[in-house]
Amino acid sequence: MKALITSGGHGTRLRPITHTQNKHLIPIANKPMLHYAIEAIAGAGIKDIGIVTNAKNRDVETAIGTGKEFGVKITYIPQESPLGLAHVVKISHDFLKDEPFVFYLGDNMLVGGVKRFIDEFKKLHSNCHLTLSKVKDPERFGVPELRDGRIVSIEEKPKHPKSDFAVAGIYIYDACIFEAVNHIKPSPRGELEISDAHQYLLDKGYAITYSEITGWWKDTGKPYDLLEANRLVLENQETRIEGEVDDDSVITGKVVIGKGTKIKNSVLRGPCIIGKDCTIKDSYIGPFTSIYDDCLVKKSEVEFSIILKHCKIEDVGIRLEESLLGNDVQIVSAEKKPRTNRFMLGDQSRVEVV
Ligand code: G1P
Repeated sequence: MKALITSGGHGTRLRPITHTQNKHLIPIANKPMLHYAIEAIAGAGIKDIGIVTNAKNRDVETAIGTGKEFGVKITYIPQESPLGLAHVVKISHDFLKDEPFVFYLGDNMLVGGVKRFIDEFKKLHSNCHLTLSKVKDPERFGVPELRDGRIVSIEEKPKHPKSDFAVAGIYIYDACIFEAVNHIKPSPRGELEISDAHQYLLDKGYAITYSEITGWWKDTGKPYDLLEANRLVLENQETRIEGEVDDDSVITGKVVIGKGTKIKNSVLRGPCIIGKDCTIKDSYIGPFTSIYDDCLVKKSEVEFSIILKHCKIEDVGIRLEESLLGNDVQIVSAEKKPRTNRFMLGDQSRVEVV
């Protein structure tokens, strides 16, 4: 069995971070999001993975490489323009051949891996095995209509959802899916929708089965989803301290501190992770915080946040919470008079002041 992972799209809801960085490479608990998808697939014993990338940009290929470090072989499949998930499947036919495969949306994160779903797919002699998760906002997703434990219809982002389930971005198909993606027409937003391919299979009488995801699952479309995914991964980490912690600091809970990092006169309350070569001085780092490499946090407090590489947070008089900072961001106290807030923000930045 092979697997196909998506890594394209524009990540518009995560701007400005995604102006300069592919969404799938944003670190969650200091590890690129895409690593979780590759690890889940490798964990199910699949060794041959296709990653569909945005043809205009080689960032994913450069960051992820050949797959050797994951024990898999990765083939990159460029997509010229984002014409929908069913289009992704369509252009990958040559790579996938007519064998069953796992289709995994690279911005989805879940615990427990994918082997259990593959086993169900095989056991049920399914043509298409979907994963469903109960959500509060089904209108954001593909939504199944269920009757007597069977899926009877599927709609993409319906105004009036027929259930409170989302179709999660982990699918297992046999070759029938190619018939579907080659027959459906673009939706009003101009995309070949994966939900329309599923509806096609239902209409033609193919066997669509499903598993309910019982643990957590996240589609990381919006900033708060990233914070939530980060929180959930951090909750499962174990303490590992490779940096230096001085005697005036207090560390509680599950905390990871990378090599070359110095913690001075600070309180770190886990679960949290600090990358390599950071300095945390006279500060408080609270639960569910990830701070990536080369950051400085001085006389400041940070909690429930994701801070990317090479950021500087210094003398900030108010706790940063629920925040997402991109690479090279500085939040520092103003030295010059007048004592005002001064901002230099890129396009589509967002600041909430109190
Ligand atoms: C896509 C699919 C949708 C599915 C979702 C899961 O939506 O079109 O059917 O429920 O992924 O993550 P998107 O996230 O591209 O809006």
